[in-house]
Amino acid sequence: MSPWYEQLGFKANPLDVRPNPLVVGLERQEEQLVNHVLKGEICFLNGLTGSGKSSLLMKIQGNLRNHTMIYLDAQELPKDFNLEKELKSKRNFFDRIRFKKYPSKTPVLIIDEFQATDKNLILDARAKWENPDERKIKSIIIAQISKYLKNVTPAFKERLGSRTLLLPTLDDEEMKEILNLRLKGRRGANYYNKLHNEALNLLVACADGNPRKLLEYTDMIFDFHYRKFKHNNPMLVNPTYLVTYWGAKEILELQKVNVNAYVYLEKETKKRKLQAFEKRFSKQQREWLVFLMTGSKTTTELSRNFKISESTVWMKLRELKAKGAVVKAGKKQRKQLWQASPHVKRLRVRV
Ligand SMILES: Nc1ncnc2c1ncn2[C@@H]1O[C@H](COP(=O)(O)OP(=O)(O)OP(=O)(O)O)[C@@H](O)[C@H]1O
Ligand SMILES: [Mg+2]
Repeated sequence: MSPWYEQLGFKANPLDVRPNPLVVGLERQEEQLVNHVLKGEICFLNGLTGSGKSSLLMKIQGNLRNHTMIYLDAQELPKDFNLEKELKSKRNFFDRIRFKKYPSKTPVLIIDEFQATDKNLILDARAKWENPDERKIKSIIIAQISKYLKNVTPAFKERLGSRTLLLPTLDDEEMKEILNLRLKGRRGANYYNKLHNEALNLLVACADGNPRKLLEYTDMIFDFHYRKFKHNNPMLVNPTYLVTYWGAKEILELQKVNVNAYVYLEKETKKRKLQAFEKRFSKQQREWLVFLMTGSKTTTELSRNFKISESTVWMKLRELKAKGAVVKAGKKQRKQLWQASPHVKRLRVRV
């Protein structure tokens, strides 16, 4: 038995969740990132998990062909990693025959998963970027989920200045575009067209602004069809077949995905949908959501704001989470941060 995508004529899984240079909606961030590199600056790429940091880093490495790149995933570095050695290993053939100690094209250093970086490596990298007699590194890009840089000195932050790029959450149309690009098959076939628009809306809402989840959930739909129907897979044999909202919902529910984030109301206008969505939350819940839309909050902040105990806060958060209305948003001083989910934000629930 081969996997679903081979049956549909793909060599590899088009919905693979690993970093992929096919990014949507990040043109401005890409341009800024390239500009910082060209100017030889230090900059910081920040964004939620699955928001495309590693993918964007992959894309700019491909575009800056005339640069030497050193890409480090701080989580995967060997214990004895040595930046000096790494720099030397980037010398090309001509550098070596000319007995150059370092690459003639000064490398750009990219550190992904920066929160896991060893402090000494950071000091070494900064010195190699800054010291006039060294200047072995042209530019440094660091990337991580949390916006708080814990492992750097104030001096490093000073050099970083305000060069922080925050990856946005994509809007619904951009999320759909990811699938449209990924599901293009051979000979003009595009399996994106096998998904009814309401099925797509459901997938996008469940993914809650996280492209990685969108890919994962869409994979479940294709995988299910293949395993259930085998040679009679309607995706392949029935030219007019469409995955409906109901079909998609059932498949996602089987995989324990919380499908409550999106309510499909047949033949309803957008305004009526919004009203129906608002009906799903009590007045108090809507007050919470409006508060959580102003930025992420810890349970302590919530308990102070609404004058209730922290254990009640946890209970309320659980209720909102079950409705797909709040998501975790990193940590602040070891305390869990919460924010309104992108889907709720887009709907702008009114109190
Ligand atoms: N803007 C986007 N356009 C298209 N695909 C995207 C986008 N953002 C993320 N993806 C896809 O989602 C998956 C996860 O993205 P990626 O690994 O780049 O995220 P990340 O921000 O590095 O996450 P993490 O912080 O967990 O490492 C990848 O397959 C990527 O191609
Ligand atoms: Mg990453």
